[in-house]
Amino acid sequence: MNALPPLAASQTRPPAARRLHVVTWGCQMNVYDSGRMADVLAPLGFGPAASAEDADMVILNTCHIREHATEKLFSELGRLRRLKEARAAAGTRMLLAVAGCVAQAEGAEILRRAPYVDIVLGPQTYHRLPEMIAEAEHGGRAVIATEFPPESKFDHLPEAAMPAGGVTAFLAIQEGCDKFCSFCVVPYTRGVEASRPAEAVLAEARALVAAGAREITLLGQNVNAWHGDAPAGGEWNLARLLRALAEIPGLLRLRYTTSHPRDMDDALIAAHGDLPMLMPFLHLPVQSGADRILAAMNRRHTGADYLRLIERLRRARPDIALSSDFIVGYPGETAAEFAATLDLVREVGFAQAYSFKYSPRPGTPAATAPGQVPEPEKEARLAALQALLAAQQQTFNASLVGRRIGVLVTGRGRHRGQIAGRSPYLQAVHLDGPESLIGHEIEVTIAAAGPRSLAGERRAANEEHAAA
Ligand code: 5AD
Ligand code: SF4
Repeated sequence: MNALPPLAASQTRPPAARRLHVVTWGCQMNVYDSGRMADVLAPLGFGPAASAEDADMVILNTCHIREHATEKLFSELGRLRRLKEARAAAGTRMLLAVAGCVAQAEGAEILRRAPYVDIVLGPQTYHRLPEMIAEAEHGGRAVIATEFPPESKFDHLPEAAMPAGGVTAFLAIQEGCDKFCSFCVVPYTRGVEASRPAEAVLAEARALVAAGAREITLLGQNVNAWHGDAPAGGEWNLARLLRALAEIPGLLRLRYTTSHPRDMDDALIAAHGDLPMLMPFLHLPVQSGADRILAAMNRRHTGADYLRLIERLRRARPDIALSSDFIVGYPGETAAEFAATLDLVREVGFAQAYSFKYSPRPGTPAATAPGQVPEPEKEARLAALQALLAAQQQTFNASLVGRRIGVLVTGRGRHRGQIAGRSPYLQAVHLDGPESLIGHEIEVTIAAAGPRSLAGERRAANEEHAAA
């Protein structure tokens, strides 16, 4: 940083004189990273822009996990190029940056096809954004940073600045993945597993609570592999970290996502039983129900292992609801193997789940594996799986009707006099109530269930009768 050239006129403007627009695609980790990039740039005078049209800098934070990422990026870049040119014609400059996993995987290709991009930066280099901006503005050529530096980016990022009043917050505690599932780009784009020290996590959590957060979701590509330095020496696992977080006054709810079945250890399962504020909802990707496919995917667990795990979780926390990820049409998947996935889904009964057609990711082992499944077959399997999952979701939502559950009120509802919140199972809940309830967890009777959200009432059904 000390080798920076003198500030340009554009950098001497008062704080927030420049406006930043960040477009985020993909996972919650990207949402978190986008926030942190904005934090890093705030001291340079960047405030939020309403849209790309009135921004001085646009960052596209990309996701590479499934198909169409690259086409989507280049089509958005084409639009931004015209904006940038119009700006240049008017004598001002718009900086254009591409961040995230597509930047990491295809940085050179991006600059070849879109030479008007100023900065290409991988997820490990966000803390260096200020110097990259200086270099792009003064060096006159594109800056590319996609290396995996030996130090963790977590060590360099400022404490998260959270918009005041945000009742729910994300907190990244772990990044990267060493599992190398044969279909997945994450180990290549996000690098090896790195865990933040417990003290840094606790400090950020306390700051989030002080800023109004009541529910914190711990994030990581493989979050339950977290094992960080303990505050007083030694090492903690995720269960221990959750226990420490649970003691923060004012914090009402904890969640973590996303997990690998192999890292669900006894201590973590026990924590689900012992910590009421650890919400009874777990996203635990299984990908397939067929053991041969699971082995080919390098998941290193079987369908039966997964079912046993679910059974143990349910013993610890009987009301736990489950979510998962599935891939259909993995290379070589037969109709019978796909049917095994449907069987596993029927056996578990999911509250919700995500399912995807297998999409070959360049550089991953599965991309060149024999037996690629034809597109129409993938589509048919996806439709069948999604129909089953949607029916299970509807059944789960309907099972809550008439029940009284805790709802964390997160904000105003769609209509006047309405508020919106979150159930323990991550469903959106709408109800009538005053805004003064925002930030509080209240008891709500579920009156109706839609496919994606619930309608609730603050009074219990029996109070309703008494009042009638
Ligand atoms: N094709 C389809 N789905 C994928 N996922 C990861 N890589 C691929 C791929 N190549 C899915 C997995 C993972 C989720 C985040 O995205 O189900 O759990
Ligand atoms: Fe990708 Fe998750 Fe497998 Fe890691 S565990 S390689 S992030 S699918």
